[in-house]
Amino acid sequence: MADTKLTPVEKLNQEEAAAELARLAAEIAEHDARYHREDAPTISDAEYDALKRRNFAIEERFPDLKRADSPSEKVGAAVSEKFEKIRHRIPMLSLDNAFNDEDVRDFVARVRRFLKLAEDAPLRITAEPKIDGLSLSLRYEDGDLVYAATRGDGTTGENVTANARTIDDIPNNLKGNPPAVMEVRGEVYMTKEDFAELNDRQAAAGKQTYVNPRNTAAGSLRQLDASVTAGRALKFFAYAWGEVSEMPSDTQMGMVGVLKDFGFVTNPLMAVFDSVEKLLEHYHAIEMERGELAYDIDGVVYKVDDLKLQERLGFVSRSPRWAIAHKFPAEKAMTTLNAIDIQVGRTGAITPVARLEPVTVGGVVVENATLHNAEEIDRLGVMIGDTVIVQRAGDVIPQILGFVEEKRPQDAKAFEFPTVCPCSLETPILRETNAIGEESVVRRCSGEFACPFQRKEHLKHFVSRRAFDIEGLGDKQIEYFFDDEGGLEIKTPAQIFTLKTRDETALTKLKNRDGYGETSARNLFDAIEERRTIPLERLIYALGIRHVGESTARTLARAYGNWTSFEEAALRIAGGDEAAREEMDALEDIGDAVIDSLARYFNEPHNRDMVEALVAELTIEEAEKPQTDTALAGKTIVFTGSLERMSRDEAKAMAERFGAKAAGSVSKKTDLVVAGPGAGSKLVKAQEFGVEVIDEDEWFRRVENM
Ligand code: IVH
Repeated sequence: MADTKLTPVEKLNQEEAAAELARLAAEIAEHDARYHREDAPTISDAEYDALKRRNFAIEERFPDLKRADSPSEKVGAAVSEKFEKIRHRIPMLSLDNAFNDEDVRDFVARVRRFLKLAEDAPLRITAEPKIDGLSLSLRYEDGDLVYAATRGDGTTGENVTANARTIDDIPNNLKGNPPAVMEVRGEVYMTKEDFAELNDRQAAAGKQTYVNPRNTAAGSLRQLDASVTAGRALKFFAYAWGEVSEMPSDTQMGMVGVLKDFGFVTNPLMAVFDSVEKLLEHYHAIEMERGELAYDIDGVVYKVDDLKLQERLGFVSRSPRWAIAHKFPAEKAMTTLNAIDIQVGRTGAITPVARLEPVTVGGVVVENATLHNAEEIDRLGVMIGDTVIVQRAGDVIPQILGFVEEKRPQDAKAFEFPTVCPCSLETPILRETNAIGEESVVRRCSGEFACPFQRKEHLKHFVSRRAFDIEGLGDKQIEYFFDDEGGLEIKTPAQIFTLKTRDETALTKLKNRDGYGETSARNLFDAIEERRTIPLERLIYALGIRHVGESTARTLARAYGNWTSFEEAALRIAGGDEAAREEMDALEDIGDAVIDSLARYFNEPHNRDMVEALVAELTIEEAEKPQTDTALAGKTIVFTGSLERMSRDEAKAMAERFGAKAAGSVSKKTDLVVAGPGAGSKLVKAQEFGVEVIDEDEWFRRVENM
């Protein structure tokens, strides 16, 4: 590369960053042209990847500076909508587990028995860290990488070649004299440091942080856009192989040495031993070192070294008889419980979280642990100030196992479960009851839409397909606009409809945004305008009131006809008006759960304000009240067979409009069956019960005359 003294991305100022992005865009475009059009690249793949990574890192730090011609938007090879499937010529297997020293002794004894080896006959076994990443199979033909496939279900994986090529540890060409066909297998992972850095960047950009290096590595490798993968620092350890046309060595250790010679990184902690005791010694040494390693490991893998013996041992179901994974135990530590905080989930569920004096558990600093619910706190009997035992196992959130009685301080404090939500609204925390009146352990903030912790999820529901269904405004866009600080913020449903009008430059702002242009910005505004007129039932459903699903919303809309009547009924119920409650209770399929939930919702002033602001923006279409004076009023109708002139939903709606009920199955109580071609058992039943059967045309004739 021309410039070797590049300013680190963290040190660039705004101006330098813009200049650097311009330079990189031009340089990368030039290399793209040389590579794709002229087939004559002038830099190595690794150098090219480094350019793209730098571009990506700068864009992550300065998202506003991202250029319209940004190289991160372009991927050399065409990106498929979905990954192509690749069938592994040799399946990718899993490993059996050992959880203690005894299991390992049993494993070695089993191997010896199977091979009929005397107890003192030499048997060499390798030991190496079990990397906590995801496995990948790389196929090389005549030394060139032809494809990279994930493990998938072990038989078929996904073609992630474009992404794998962005990983520095994966050579595009093998060094030395590789066999004509050489499938190399190993683990893709992310170092703890790179993971922490990525999360720092995410946090600084106000984006969601990732859970752990393993999941992040997996997510990064399975990106449809390879430039995203390129921006993530992924690494690869080679430790195994699939199809190989000519085996270059006859031992496990020898093969790994060969992989290294081909240009791969292999794990330096791999070694070969001639006794179980030495294997276990190595295991415990690795366990001691675990915290200091740059990457996560979750055990040690033992493999019989002699490949001929491996072949004789073969497989049991999905795992080889010649290998086993000795897992590390879940790690525990003692620390002080400093406080218990309350966390509010996306649906308003309240979870108590233990705040701990930071303690290292298995190489990871643990500061928080979940306490699940009030009952769990009671069960454990913990008090604030106690010395608690914390456990961390793999991916799971650290847990508190108990406390040390002798260490309880004089001033230990019992935790009192709060009665109001920690959100700024201080709305009551309510315990739910299920249909049969049992109290659930889940407590929820009653703020619903108004609660800042729940708002985003509510908004996603609001715009969903069966609610407002605004084209171009889905989950992704809600995430995008939710925290917008440039005047395009959407934090309430009403703000969707004021997006365009609250600021005359909105359109200009939007079309200059990432992913938007003149047309898409206009389309979004048009789509929003289109939904300003909305049927009452959709509006009720969109409010996201607990227990008010689509069919309940429809019942309510039909019963009250217009928004004013519905709102008035809801407000009266919220105010404790018994007559209004009874009236609603009389509606079909509506009971206490729905009514209580509506009452809670409309009792909350913040919800009322939110609804008022929204309604002011809308034209609400009245629901058609069912007709009570038609020939179909009160009748039960079943539609069966394939209908050609209407969809099943439409047929149902028509029946309801004329005061009838559409049922799913035929019984003696059925009044009419509308049967299309292919009607089967329902038609037979109708004939059995003597129910009138008509075809679709007759149905239309009848309703048209009504
Ligand atoms: S050997 C036939 N070696 O563990 C067995 N696997 O549970 C081939 N893994 O899917 C696997 N480090 O993703 C082997 N040093 C290592 C490993 C390792 C991690 C993973 C691998 C595999 C899983 C099996």
